[in-house]
Amino acid sequence: MQLWVNAAQMKAADQYTIQKLEVPSLELMEHAAQACVQVLEDEKVDLSHVCVVCGSGNNGGDGFAIARILQNNSYSVETFCVGNPEHYTEETQEQMHRLQECGGKITYGMPQEDSYSVIIDAVFGVGLSRKVEGRYRQVIEQMNRMRGTKFAVDIPSGLSATTGCILGCAFKADYTVTFQLKKIGLELSQGRTMAGRVIVPDIGISTDSICEDQEIVRTAGKDIYRKMLPDRPEDSNKGTYGRLLVIAGSKGMAGAAYLNAHAAYMTGAGLVRIYTSSDNREILQTLLPEAVITTYEEYNKEELLSLLTWADGVCIGSGLGMSRLSEKILKTVIEYVKVPCLIDADGLNLLAENKNYLNQMAERRFVITPHMKEMSRLTGISVEELKADRIQILKDFSSRYRITCVLKDSRTLIASEEKGIRMNLTGNSAMAKAGSGDVLAGVISGWMVQGKEAEDAAELGTYIHGLSGDLAKFEKGVYSVMARDLIEYISKALMKLEE
Ligand code: ACO
Repeated sequence: MQLWVNAAQMKAADQYTIQKLEVPSLELMEHAAQACVQVLEDEKVDLSHVCVVCGSGNNGGDGFAIARILQNNSYSVETFCVGNPEHYTEETQEQMHRLQECGGKITYGMPQEDSYSVIIDAVFGVGLSRKVEGRYRQVIEQMNRMRGTKFAVDIPSGLSATTGCILGCAFKADYTVTFQLKKIGLELSQGRTMAGRVIVPDIGISTDSICEDQEIVRTAGKDIYRKMLPDRPEDSNKGTYGRLLVIAGSKGMAGAAYLNAHAAYMTGAGLVRIYTSSDNREILQTLLPEAVITTYEEYNKEELLSLLTWADGVCIGSGLGMSRLSEKILKTVIEYVKVPCLIDADGLNLLAENKNYLNQMAERRFVITPHMKEMSRLTGISVEELKADRIQILKDFSSRYRITCVLKDSRTLIASEEKGIRMNLTGNSAMAKAGSGDVLAGVISGWMVQGKEAEDAAELGTYIHGLSGDLAKFEKGVYSVMARDLIEYISKALMKLEE
């Protein structure tokens, strides 16, 4: 299981290693610097004219140690200290001293040349605690303008290790060598854009103190997802694989219902019934003859209750619209459903307008799949604030209402009481198109009716959906992947997972 830590968790691991295991901090710094030099050499980065820019914290200390090792290896190195002398840490001072003892020269101020073979950023590491302004901002902007390979130590300066947000401005790296554990900020928000290629060397920091921490974000590997796939015994029939009720598609929104239902079938669901506006009957029957279609023109509680009794799982909300009729249908589903139920799209917008419904959902195997804007409506927290504190907000929301919450973004997070927070690593920007979310809702629902627990269905569904997108992008290119392609590639994704 891959762990993703924030700045505080990383510092806790650092401190545990230094204080409890009595590994000297300077030794860790030496390991960190050695690891960076190793990566520079392994990646064959041009080291003919090296610029190292250091701050006053311990990230700067790593930078001075890198400069010394490179210089001792006979490379031409220029070292700049842009930190505040009042804030030099003991370790950083010692590293400055060691560099000078080896004949290294430190220039206090910004680099003057505009081109080096490589620019090593050791201004701020995980200790960045506020917006980058003034002189530091000038330094980072200048480093970004300079020509040469850009190499960040631990995390690009200016990027929050906890949120992936740029605090003022940030170094744009080609490589980031991050020590021991991946920082969650390297994946979320702007992290992926700013970090470039991320390499994670082992430098001897112990993870013992944090690996039981329920607050830590985790990512399961392919093997775990493969084991989650339900069996498909020969001695089975469509009833074995679950009946899904898709409640979706107001007038003119038949596509959403189609994408839900088709995706669920492709995931292995035995029987899918679509409950939709009567206007959609013909088109849905043509698009997906395998689906059973039941239509409504007005609210019919008896009919709805009997459908809920029939179903092994419910997927409600995609293209449902915001009418009074849709609201009544959603309210009835939330009140009476006894099987796992996923709420998506307009279902979530209706929920945001009727937040009291949320209180009825506890421990009833609900899954919700909001994107950032929908999550903002549900929580009343702005998208900006959400981005800056998404993990805590997601965790609090999911545990307050005791539901599984899939927060969609370029890196989707899944929160549940049972498994804490999981991050999905499949998927790409080709999937940023209308209908992708409807497909995801269908895939997760498909697993739900095949007997997967809500949190497993959400995690496996998100993984397969992203993998379909990755395979589709590989064959169709980044611009031309349609939501319906994601459905087509579900089979390839499943076969790839089974390999
Ligand atoms: N503007 C100006 N100054 C700022 C800003 C800002 N926006 N943000 C932070 N600072 C300053 C603060 O003075 C802060 O120090 P403070 O929190 O004590 O006030 C300092 O910058 C933080 O500097 P960093 O170098 O980012 O943080 P830190 O000193 O915690 O080191 C670390 C980061 C642990 C070295 C990590 O990024 C790293 O590289 N780890 C590698 C492993 C390693 O070397 N471990 C041993 C380190 S020694 C030890 O932990 C005691």
